[in-house]
Amino acid sequence: MSRLSERPERAVVGEQLPHESAALHVTGHALYTDDLVQRTPRVLHAHPVCSPHAHAHVTDLRVGPAYGVAGVVRVLTAADVPGVNDAGVKNDEPLFPDEVMFVGHAVCWVLGETAEAARLGAAAVEVDYEPLPSLVGLREAIAAHSFQGGQPTVERGDVEGGISGSAHVFSGVTEMAGQEHFYLETHCSLAQVDEAGQVFVQSSTQHPTETQEIVAHVLGVPSHAVTVQCLRMGGGFGGKEMQPHGFAAVAALGSTLTGRPVRLRLSRQQDMTMTGKRHGFHAEWRVGFDAEGRLQALDATLTSDGGWSLDLSEPVLARALCHVDNAYWIPHVRVHGRVARTHKTSQTAFRGFGGPQGMLVIEDVLGRCAPLLGLDPGELRRRNFYVDGQDTPYGMPVRHAHRLVNAWDQLHASAEVARRQQEVAAFNAEHPHTKRGLAVTPVKFGISFNFTAFNQAGALVHVYKDGSVLVNHGGTEMGQGLHTKMIQVAATALGVPLERVRLAPTRTDKVPNTSATAASSGADLNGGAVKDACDQILERLEQVRAGRDLGWEELVREAYFARVQLWAAGFYRTEGLHWDSTVMRGHPFKYFAYGVAAAEVEVEGFTGGYTTRRVDIVHDVGDSLSPLVDLGQIEGGFVQGAGWLTLEDLRWDESDGAGRGRLTTQAASTYKLPAFSEMPAVFNVSVLEDAHEDGVVYGSKAVGEPPLMLAFSVREALRQAVTAFAPGVSRLAPLAPQPPVSVELASPATPEAVWWALEQARAGGQQPVAGAPGVEPEQPDADRPLLRPRSEHAGVVPAGQQSREGD
Ligand code: MTE
Ligand code: MOS
Repeated sequence: MSRLSERPERAVVGEQLPHESAALHVTGHALYTDDLVQRTPRVLHAHPVCSPHAHAHVTDLRVGPAYGVAGVVRVLTAADVPGVNDAGVKNDEPLFPDEVMFVGHAVCWVLGETAEAARLGAAAVEVDYEPLPSLVGLREAIAAHSFQGGQPTVERGDVEGGISGSAHVFSGVTEMAGQEHFYLETHCSLAQVDEAGQVFVQSSTQHPTETQEIVAHVLGVPSHAVTVQCLRMGGGFGGKEMQPHGFAAVAALGSTLTGRPVRLRLSRQQDMTMTGKRHGFHAEWRVGFDAEGRLQALDATLTSDGGWSLDLSEPVLARALCHVDNAYWIPHVRVHGRVARTHKTSQTAFRGFGGPQGMLVIEDVLGRCAPLLGLDPGELRRRNFYVDGQDTPYGMPVRHAHRLVNAWDQLHASAEVARRQQEVAAFNAEHPHTKRGLAVTPVKFGISFNFTAFNQAGALVHVYKDGSVLVNHGGTEMGQGLHTKMIQVAATALGVPLERVRLAPTRTDKVPNTSATAASSGADLNGGAVKDACDQILERLEQVRAGRDLGWEELVREAYFARVQLWAAGFYRTEGLHWDSTVMRGHPFKYFAYGVAAAEVEVEGFTGGYTTRRVDIVHDVGDSLSPLVDLGQIEGGFVQGAGWLTLEDLRWDESDGAGRGRLTTQAASTYKLPAFSEMPAVFNVSVLEDAHEDGVVYGSKAVGEPPLMLAFSVREALRQAVTAFAPGVSRLAPLAPQPPVSVELASPATPEAVWWALEQARAGGQQPVAGAPGVEPEQPDADRPLLRPRSEHAGVVPAGQQSREGD
């Protein structure tokens, strides 16, 4: 066992503790960036002037009228920028643009004595636009060949050979929507300048170092002149990995120009219309199975909807390509990726970072093909699991693949899947107008940043003369419990009680050059760094102790008088990683996190409405650092995933009218989020047993993102319930082999989408075409056309027929 993962006796890690700020959260005492405004005198408020066009040249900008509004202090425009007029790291995001790229794009910002003065000032600014053609829908952009950034391919084996040698070949299209982060705290920055011109920005940011860098390059000053602090976030979910930078830069610029503190906080509607979301994806695929249903080859093209600029679209795409396999061994693979440029918000990181989108493709393929292969979908999935010794398509060994099977078995036992499947079948036989479905789906998720350099972290640990301990580290707290875990790590490493340790807010002047708190790696990376710092201090203290039996306080006091350094900077980097993005091969992840979920749903036949009756989860967190925190992450991740897949429906105006490009779901009134009513009535979460992870801090595993993808089980359960409405499904012998009914389900599977899928099932589903290898066809009902709301693509098409057409 490595020293890093070894856990001492009486460790504080592993204890069931509440979140370190739980009491503050629930009493309203926890401070978020915007709460600081009350404590800051003479603050100015910022308000944007936003484009009403999806795409246009700004031909004239007249800020004069704003100064006629009482309380307006300053209008910020491109002419004010002393450094680089760009809010991103790719040089494609002008902070003050002369070409607007989406509805809501800020042209300039107005500073006022009050938020209302700033708002009225912004309304008074006159902008002339020359509208330009725009691309709003993803399919529109694909048709127009509007792409941005690199177009990587993950490839292994001989795809054409694999397909032609397959007993069953199918092709299809899978589309999925994006997702709004809807963190409770919207984007916020508060900037101040001190007497020496030093800029201090408090920002709701997952990546303080990058916020610092962008602020510095916009102001044209070195990084040491800018300090960024993040107290905590009211949720980030990836939405604050890159998107905060521009807002922080506007606040900082305003502050340097006026000498006063500047606050920029977006309203909910501004946040939804101005900031990036999860990427929607379009995937076209061909897949081959052998006679037993084992995957032979997958050929797919994934196109993400990047919005107007690159932002994090390329790394998100890379993670999608690296997760198309999910838990399954596919000998021959070619997965090609593209990022479309559309006139929408710049889509960005969101919990899972492309992984969910890649994995949805293969889960959709399996869910649609299982009936055509005459296999139970669960059996089809299980049959294709990786086994130890196999590699991913990008060449990384799938270590601990047996944990997938362990989790699968543990879940089947604890959730009584076999017995309940019988119950579901019996229920369906009795109920013509309501049907149930029970589906089990696996998760395999790679942990580490694909980009190797980001896998480093720092910490600063002080032991004061009285024996109390103050910890700083490079990670940010967004509700995920990172700080709780870091306090537990420090207490464990130093061998002191939890109460001795306090954690200070994240600041770039305490720990420099940090990575984003992202990729679920916050605890792995910062935990390694905190432990390193503690180990250094402890080593020195052990010399002072010299084998004597001294209490902690006594030891610390003695060390001080002996002039021994009582604080240390810790550092950690993940060993063994390499990644070549030019060929998309390497060993990008330290390990995989595994999980399995079983969901049972009930669908109502007249409306498509449904409820989630029960969910069981077995998830692999290694040896948990903080079990209650991990439980919260698993439950929360799952519910957020279920929201993405079933409820949350982003709609943009794709018409040619005046509102073209406008986000029509820009508030909680029209954008439906999961609430208590969507929680499963029965929700059992347990962790995988015997799951120590060697080489990671105290044997733990990352938990932030992987559970989101457990929600595929809900989508597949819905598909199975819908399938039960198909005409040929026997009421008398529900467990007998069913006719091959392949149901295409839109994502999100809203009740409306489920209703359309029901219509499809009632019409006999996606019928396999006669002559397709290995499938006994049923004749489709010719006078009931398939109705599809979102997609005009055919569903699962046996590819034999397709290629014949092409000949
Ligand atoms: N949990 C809460 N409560 N709030 C959040 O914003 N973000 C998620 C996840 N869990 C998030 C969360 C995302 S996108 C990531 S990458 C991880 O937490 C980041 O934190 P970690 O690396 O410390 O797990
Ligand atoms: Mo999480 S999407 O990596 O911030």
